[in-house]
Amino acid sequence: MPKDARGLEVSGANAEIVAGIDDYVARLVRIEPGAERILEDVRAHPDVPLLRLHAAAFLLFGQTGELVAAATEHLAAVEPRLAAANERERAFHGALRLWHEGAFHRAAEAFEALTEPWPRDLAAAKMCEFLYYVLGQQHSGKRFYAHMARLEDANRDDPDYLAMAAFASELCDDFAGAEAKATRAIELAPRNPWAEHALSHALIRQGRVDEGKRRMEAFLPELRKCGRIIVCHDLWHLALFYLEELDLEAASRLFREDVWIAGADSVSEQLDMIALLWRMEVAGGEVEDAWEDIAERILPHASETFMPFVNAHFAYALARAGRNDALEEMLARVATRSALPDDESRRVWAPIGRPVIEACAAAGRGDARRAATLLEPVIAGMPAIGGSDAQCDLFRQLYLQSLRASSRKADARRFLDLLTIHKRRRTPLDGLLAQGL
Ligand SMILES: [Fe+2]
Repeated sequence: MPKDARGLEVSGANAEIVAGIDDYVARLVRIEPGAERILEDVRAHPDVPLLRLHAAAFLLFGQTGELVAAATEHLAAVEPRLAAANERERAFHGALRLWHEGAFHRAAEAFEALTEPWPRDLAAAKMCEFLYYVLGQQHSGKRFYAHMARLEDANRDDPDYLAMAAFASELCDDFAGAEAKATRAIELAPRNPWAEHALSHALIRQGRVDEGKRRMEAFLPELRKCGRIIVCHDLWHLALFYLEELDLEAASRLFREDVWIAGADSVSEQLDMIALLWRMEVAGGEVEDAWEDIAERILPHASETFMPFVNAHFAYALARAGRNDALEEMLARVATRSALPDDESRRVWAPIGRPVIEACAAAGRGDARRAATLLEPVIAGMPAIGGSDAQCDLFRQLYLQSLRASSRKADARRFLDLLTIHKRRRTPLDGLLAQGL
């Protein structure tokens, strides 16, 4: 059986097909453009199990009902070939089945089990990292960190492993460890948008705004050569540094002349867009005219319920755009989703997700008191709705503002102390959030 660049066996493939898979995996883990070519490769070689599996996973990353449904064909097509596939490919299929069903916790467990015997399978590790995002990356931080620590011996000089491991360290508040791993990753591969990403996370949490801003600005020429998803997300991180300094003009310029122009067709990009607009409002900016446009983009999948984190963003955007009918429809679907008798409903939708989403809708409609009441019992568990620590800060800022608008100044003050606990110094944005408290 031929082996790929990481020494992993690939069934039913010749050397040329394996080279194509290597190329795909390299683009996937480095977030380089061109990974979508996997969908052409699988058409050319529909009987190769691993191509089918990678095509299914590529679609599952999309976070919409349409893309999840499109993955079904590939998962079904590989089933008759599983008996002749190798053990790793069968394990891969099992993990993808769970992901496809929305059993995210069990899917992550399946990928964790896969990397035990095959620790060099960084594509599987990357998929697991995405599942931690769905489960809440900060909430899953220790689990993510333990997974990466287990893979260290097999991958210690791999820049893509190091970028992931750096992020896991940051999520566990090990900022020095995150910086060391990200720096090493960038030494090994200078165009490493995921390592730069981990650094941005680590620097902003410590209040090292100027450093973070300069780093990402210097990286921009290389970043623009990367895959669109990470271009958008790293630019979002750059905008966060601008907003910490209350430089609304720079954030707005990035949004209107750069990120926005990129299109925002995928859910990930739309989440970045909504979060940026929302944070510009938190920082005192006015972005009213942009909400209508973003509402149009999200409407085709606004009522889907992939994970609460997505709906929380969409709820605020629809409310700000005045799309009441679409918002009510989405809230009704969220209520239905939260009542389903499955693991994700019990874990997150019913106890945490639904109140957070309803709080975002209330805040978007200007009802801060209701937002504060809804968030209060769930804010500590909120990171389980999905997203990273930096992304979840949006809901923490919302809670803080809702407390203030409800005249609960002492509670707001205490919460701001928690929000800034790792910062070496408070930023102008923190100063704005503290005003009048
Ligand atoms: Fe991020």
